Amino acid sequence: MKKKALIFGVTGQDGAYLSKFLLKKGYTVHGVIRRSSSINTLRLNDIYKDPFAKKRNFVLHYGDVTDSLSVLNIIEKVRPTEIYNLAAQSHVAVSFDIPEYTTNADALGTLRILEAIVKVDKKIKFYQAGSSEMFGKVVEKPQNEKTPFYPRSPYGVAKVYSYWITLNYRESYKLFACNGILFNHESPLRGETFVTKKVVKGLCRIKNNKQKKLYLGNLYSKRDWGHAEDYVVAMWKMLQNKVPDDFVICTGKQYTIKKFINLVAKKLKIKIKWRGRGINEKAYDQNNNCIIECHQRYFRPAEVDTLQGDYSKAKKVLKWKPKKNLEDLINDMISFELKQISK
Ligand code: NAP
Ligand code: GDD
Repeated sequence: MKKKALIFGVTGQDGAYLSKFLLKKGYTVHGVIRRSSSINTLRLNDIYKDPFAKKRNFVLHYGDVTDSLSVLNIIEKVRPTEIYNLAAQSHVAVSFDIPEYTTNADALGTLRILEAIVKVDKKIKFYQAGSSEMFGKVVEKPQNEKTPFYPRSPYGVAKVYSYWITLNYRESYKLFACNGILFNHESPLRGETFVTKKVVKGLCRIKNNKQKKLYLGNLYSKRDWGHAEDYVVAMWKMLQNKVPDDFVICTGKQYTIKKFINLVAKKLKIKIKWRGRGINEKAYDQNNNCIIECHQRYFRPAEVDTLQGDYSKAKKVLKWKPKKNLEDLINDMISFELKQISK
């Protein structure tokens, strides 16, 4: 029988990559989109299907994970074989500004989907988009599936709730429900306000005289960055495993934000020199123009200083490992950005 996936958060970075991956695998893909006053399906342009076409393998539904009725109605109507919950207010810094909404969407949203699965069909498999932000102020290095959580933001706390409620419904109702604990993953489709996209886009525009300066926050936090295209494969593999389980997905390597900036600048042949310390640290180009400054607005009330994962379990059980390294990721992001500028 043809498999049918339902993706909450289909319009996001991972939603777009996962949709394309599942369509290639022969799935019919249903996605949930929010009503918006401006177009929010840009990442789906190449797979979008005319709603009046007779046969469609990609179908969109209006809904919202903060709205129980829409969640239940869509699941009842679609009757998917697999549900991927990627829907979230996913920006850590913004979660300090809108903590209540973040909790509603990122924590209770997961509960709403799980409840609907119990009501509609307990055989529906479920993937929950957990995050390395749950490790927060890390209690060990590197982090694996057994590392205790210590979240540092309303976003991280909400994701911890979702992790436990997913595990609880797995144990209580015997659902095939899995938690992916994914470390940062980026791509050309990354949201504009995440640091990698900001740096790549900013430096590409500076190189092409479209922008003079880039403002950033903490340059010294360390992240384990992978490519979103690799990570959606791991989500799917979790739901094809014999038993439901939880998996850390990462590259095992970490870099500071400053190192990431230096690598991007080198690729773009911008020679940068750093001067100053703390909030006064600045980057200058070969003509002594200041092109990067730090600004208080991009620092967070509490920071996650270091993240580095261990994907041994996923490697052993799911036969998953990342295919793209940081250099591949940067090359992909830069060539996308340069194409955008030349358009
Ligand atoms: P993203 O680009 O921000 O996409 C989030 C998606 O969720 C968008 O489609 C967004 O819709 C949707 N959404 C937000 N609030 C919603 C609501 N109330 N109801 C329904 N949909 C809602 O995030 P991403 O990078 O693809 O990440 C996907 C998931 O993985 C998220 O849950 C994120 O927290 C988690 N995660 C991401 C990473 C990472 O590094 N990327 C790492 C670990 C975990 P709009 O387009 O309408 O805003
Ligand atoms: N966004 C942003 N903007 N971050 C900055 C900036 C800036 O101008 N300057 C420095 N940073 C630092 C942040 O303080 C953080 O330490 C690091 O760059 C990464 O920030 P983000 O790219 O916003 O990602 P994140 O690590 O906070 O969260 C992402 O990864 C999580 C997985 O660990 C998001 O995708 C989350 O949804 C995801 O769960």
